[in-house]
Amino acid sequence: MKSRSILQQSREEKSLVTCYSRYHSDAAVSQYCDAHYGPQRLGVANFPARLAQLCAVAMEGNPCRRALDLGCAVGRASFELTTHFDQVTGIDYSARFIELADRLRNYGTISYQLVEEGELISDHQVHLADLGLAGSAYRVAFHQGNAMQLDEQYSGNDLVLAANLIDRLPDPGKFLAGIHRFVVPGGLLAIASPYNWLESFTPQHKWLGGRFRAGIPLSSLEGLRRKLAAHFAAVGEPLEVAFVIRENARKFQCGLSQLTLWRRIR
Ligand SMILES: C[S@@+](CC[C@H](N)C(=O)[O-])C[C@H]1O[C@@H](n2cnc3c(N)ncnc32)[C@H](O)[C@@H]1O
Repeated sequence: MKSRSILQQSREEKSLVTCYSRYHSDAAVSQYCDAHYGPQRLGVANFPARLAQLCAVAMEGNPCRRALDLGCAVGRASFELTTHFDQVTGIDYSARFIELADRLRNYGTISYQLVEEGELISDHQVHLADLGLAGSAYRVAFHQGNAMQLDEQYSGNDLVLAANLIDRLPDPGKFLAGIHRFVVPGGLLAIASPYNWLESFTPQHKWLGGRFRAGIPLSSLEGLRRKLAAHFAAVGEPLEVAFVIRENARKFQCGLSQLTLWRRIR
């Protein structure tokens, strides 16, 4: 029994290392800097900014003291949330993403490079002031951390946002089973996901949906509902939010992330 749990643990760690190394690469840094701070691509609104705006609308009439942005990458949604919340914490497993977000917070600017074609690159700079976010940046703190093993210091949030995170976790069900501890009663949990389940991140038997269970097809939305039912009630209807990741000047990944909102009821 003991050796089995050690084996399970080492699998989870291995999967996180794989995930971490993907997001640590130069390509990932440049793609996420562009997705968060670059110009609009293919006519699609900035994804993290749009999510933060939708969360702010959903929070109307509720206290907006603390927000937690899990898997914040280079921080755009966290910065956007500072215009609505007194205190925002952005957490990401990638120390490199967190370092960039923190630098942007502290100095108001960061530089990054984009692949144009082949080995040709271009230089870019982002200024928080140009985005209207410089004045409230002092309200955000960025920390490197693991959403699967969140410290209690991150509890007490009126809003927890997990954007395009759950299908990158080794055990999304375990994450969802414990997330209520970080949302105050009456607070909101916002989950956005394209449900792009891949075995390289999540073993198939841990996928929330997009698979057969006892011979019956299970959607990811239904899987989410089941996992959250003990503590949350769904708010409104799911919303499809588009996102674009630029790979080079003429190659883009486009996706639809399904945003669902959940109120903590117990
Ligand atoms: C697909 S990206 C989404 C980033 C951002 N939320 C967005 O919507 O643009 C997933 C992010 O989750 C982070 N991540 C993956 N596993 C994580 C974990 N266990 N704990 C915290 N962050 C994690 C990655 O480093 C990456 O920044």
